[in-house]
Amino acid sequence: MKIVKEAKTFDQVNTEVLIVGVQKNCDHIEGWKDFVSFYGESVEDWIRTCDIDTDRKKLTKLPYTGQNGQLKRVLFVGLGDTKTLTENELRETFGIVGKQLRALKVNEVSIWLESFTANPIDEETIAFLFAEGAGLGFYQTPNYKTTSNEVDVYMDTVHFVTNGDIDEIAAAYEVGKIYAESVNEARNLVNLPPNLLTATELGHYAEKLAKQYDFEIEILTKTELEELGMGGILSVNKGSVEEPRLITIKYQATEKWEDVIGLVGKGVTYDTGGYSIKTKTGMVGMKGDMGGAAAVLGAMKIIGEVRPNKNVVAVIGSTDNMISGEAFKPDDVITMYSGKTVEVLNTDAEGRLVLADAVTYAKQQGANYLIDVATLTGGVITALGFDKTGSLTNNEEFFDAFIESSIETGEFVWGMPLTEKDKKRIRKSDVADLNNSPGSDGHMIFGGGFVGEFVEETPWIHLDIAGTSNASNAHDLGPKGATGVMVRTLATFVERLGEQNN
Ligand code: BES
Ligand code: ZN
Ligand code: ZN
Repeated sequence: MKIVKEAKTFDQVNTEVLIVGVQKNCDHIEGWKDFVSFYGESVEDWIRTCDIDTDRKKLTKLPYTGQNGQLKRVLFVGLGDTKTLTENELRETFGIVGKQLRALKVNEVSIWLESFTANPIDEETIAFLFAEGAGLGFYQTPNYKTTSNEVDVYMDTVHFVTNGDIDEIAAAYEVGKIYAESVNEARNLVNLPPNLLTATELGHYAEKLAKQYDFEIEILTKTELEELGMGGILSVNKGSVEEPRLITIKYQATEKWEDVIGLVGKGVTYDTGGYSIKTKTGMVGMKGDMGGAAAVLGAMKIIGEVRPNKNVVAVIGSTDNMISGEAFKPDDVITMYSGKTVEVLNTDAEGRLVLADAVTYAKQQGANYLIDVATLTGGVITALGFDKTGSLTNNEEFFDAFIESSIETGEFVWGMPLTEKDKKRIRKSDVADLNNSPGSDGHMIFGGGFVGEFVEETPWIHLDIAGTSNASNAHDLGPKGATGVMVRTLATFVERLGEQNN
């Protein structure tokens, strides 16, 4: 979706498809009478007889046979009672529209913005949500089938039927498009098979991103990590023939490197569990264990495009977790980058070891705030299911601001408690400062809490996306597979941080 055009009246529409919102009661829409006389009075009968479904998220595709020679069909989009329509539901509705447009193989559409207005959702917001929702719904998981005859289609032009300010509408649309494209790129990373996406390859991707957006980038190799003594990431990497990487990207918008937001991602490109090995069914899908890294990179892409007046450092620890004669073992005692020692009780609790070193590094690079994001524990799925990201924090004010952003994006985040008793259990070991697996009860909290031991006083939020990073079924905003969760919330949060105080 690249080109934005404007049509002031229905006669000026010159695409084959026009998208029109139908509400439970369309009469209050100023242009409705014009639309009825353009399309034909039967439209009102069809709404009465439910041949055009006004129920929310229901689509009705009908031909157009009137004067306008270009237009072939109208896609009616049910909105239900717009008094209860939320922005998130509208985004999801547009997700379904995106899927339909892909199925119709159209690459040019018109959308009548006013038909979607609902107090307080204005035309600019609708343009944003359309770009974002349809862009996400449009996504298809890449495959490697040699027999595939799928013709790839892209919506490259959108026309707005509007009397509003087209420049403002186009600007909002462009931002929505960037949000969707960045999530889709993160989804592509997570969906990549682990033989193709190694830590080295993830580094190459980050390099390309940095070049595209003029970010400062540093990629530390195994030898460099050894020189620095990054025992967390190196221990996890020990059983692998693949090199680990610590990827650091900086986006500096103000003259001074201050008020720096640190985004830290778990980039485990494959998690076998190591010697605490996963079951043969539990291992399948562990290519997605770099979902946190993908979320951070996706957010950085948005930041690179939108260029907010904020300073951001992104740090990604990347390796796979494999077994061999060299691999780390339960009972090992390792020394982390911070100098703290850890008794390894479970090699499958590897993400926290990688994250801890990355967090220490982010602090050293000047991060004044920290958000880590990781597919960290199965425990979060047991606690919250597949539709809620679990979180921990050491700073309620910081967390409240984050929740505001997550409400805006519709990505559900739920705070879990981290008590002094939990911390005591993380610090309990006869031989080291910490242990990496205090128990299976409430282990989402131990996973994040372990990372918290390295954060110390810096305002911090931990996001466990093990449940939300991958969808086992298709949903309104995409197919099954990688969701790209938290890309939008992280970027929105970076854009909004500090605004509340202004
Ligand atoms: N990568 C897994 C967590 C995970 C589980 C991600 C399911 C996606 C879906 C993580 O490294 C892990 O294995 N965690 C263990 C922790 C346990 C050993 C303390 C778990 O959740 O079982
Ligand atoms: Zn694991
Ligand atoms: Zn893992």
